[in-house]
Amino acid sequence: MSGGKLNAGRDAVRLGVLLSGRGSNFQAIAESIRAGQLKGVDIAVVISNVAEAGGLKVARELGLPHEVFVSKGRTRAAHDADVLVCLRAHRVDLVCLAGYMRLLSPEFVAAFPNRILNIHPALLPAFPGLDAQTQAFDYGVKVAGCTVHFVDEHLDHGTIVLQRAIPVLDSDDAHSLAERILVEEHIAYSEAIRRVASGEYEIQGRRFVKRTA
Ligand code: GAR
Repeated sequence: MSGGKLNAGRDAVRLGVLLSGRGSNFQAIAESIRAGQLKGVDIAVVISNVAEAGGLKVARELGLPHEVFVSKGRTRAAHDADVLVCLRAHRVDLVCLAGYMRLLSPEFVAAFPNRILNIHPALLPAFPGLDAQTQAFDYGVKVAGCTVHFVDEHLDHGTIVLQRAIPVLDSDDAHSLAERILVEEHIAYSEAIRRVASGEYEIQGRRFVKRTA
């Protein structure tokens, strides 16, 4: 399958960033754009399912459109339907989950096929799910890292766009390891967005490869 242009007929690829927490990955993406390192990419809207998310404050400070759709107490289908309406209203081309701690409904995934990215703080397929860095540390791995992947209907499962790896040091604890993985996440997410936004890729089976012709 060929990647293709995400922003047919428009200047920029418009991102919809979904987050639930502090938003450091979102902030890193925003900084890459402001620094001119992600040309042809704009953040159209930031959406949180948690009203107190720190990422919303970052969006406010950066002057970026932001919305809250509290998910607590709502069905996944009803909540996701509201988020989808918002993404469409902002003409989003590519959805970026940046610490969005909520599974997406099948309807949501189907609405953006291979147009939803997620960052996960482990080298998938190892350690999917919550607290991945602690899972990896407790398992005793010697190499850890992060993965940016397309989202499909399974947890932390879709096509891998890129991974960055670091050694686990004897002096590490789970906290220091998570901090060093986060540094890699901030580099990885912008690079993955650049590759996807370029449209210059193919998906061969499960493999994301640069288009050659
Ligand atoms: C990041 O470490 C991200 O990889 C992780 O949540 C953190 C969010 O931090 N996501 C997951 O574990 C998803 N399975 P941030 O709010 O500072 O970007």
